Amino acid sequence: MTFASIVVAAGSGSRAGGDKQWRALGGKAVVRWSVEAVLDAGSAPVVVVVARDSLGRAEEALSGLSGWIAVAGGAERADSVRAGLDAIDGPEDRPVLVHDAARPLLSRAVIERLMAALSAADGAIAALPVSDTLKRGDAEIEATVDRTGLWRAQTPQVFPLGRLRAAYAAWPANETPTDDAAVVERDGGTVRLVQGDPRLMKLTFPEDFAMAEALLPRQIR
Ligand code: CTP
Ligand code: MG
Repeated sequence: MTFASIVVAAGSGSRAGGDKQWRALGGKAVVRWSVEAVLDAGSAPVVVVVARDSLGRAEEALSGLSGWIAVAGGAERADSVRAGLDAIDGPEDRPVLVHDAARPLLSRAVIERLMAALSAADGAIAALPVSDTLKRGDAEIEATVDRTGLWRAQTPQVFPLGRLRAAYAAWPANETPTDDAAVVERDGGTVRLVQGDPRLMKLTFPEDFAMAEALLPRQIR
């Protein structure tokens, strides 16, 4: 089945010094990497969620690509995902991939692993097992935390359209989820962990750009 995608790019990028999704990385806008990746993997449509005053910037950053539409996002990431969901129609079981524009280095292999895992669950997310030793404490260590079974959640995250919609409708208005899986989990859904990719690191701070630059596919570095 074809899948739809929501690429959320409506944040302000405040920790990175602003506007990170429109900045150039390896010769193209950060947001363009993800949109190209999902288009290449066969996504139809691709909904790019941007700040209300950035629709023109999206046109510029995505010029020459077809198969995407831009919609205005909201104050929190979850509001932006909801806005993206409102722009998608289709059968309830249609897979929807939700991805942060701030994670530009998305590979086809990750998308395929997620789609394969979706048949056995209400959702699947890219994640990496925690490899560092974990400590709890402030200035002083209180405890060493067992890292067995702990993962770092990334995006993309995929869910059947009807499942994700119902879960967001049920999410309490006074809480802010940190990812989409949390919304489906709270609604009683089963979500699978799929091997992510270190290159799916999120551009959060200014120094992350140099790291992402070093991780670009070799031919364009
Ligand atoms: N995002 C969004 N709408 C929001 C907030 C975030 O679409 N209201 C998107 C961002 O554009 C980004 C992704 O969600 O692609 C992950 O968010 P984050 O890394 O926190 O980006 P920003 O919110 O832009 O950055 P900051 O928190 O530093 O301001
Ligand atoms: Mg943010």
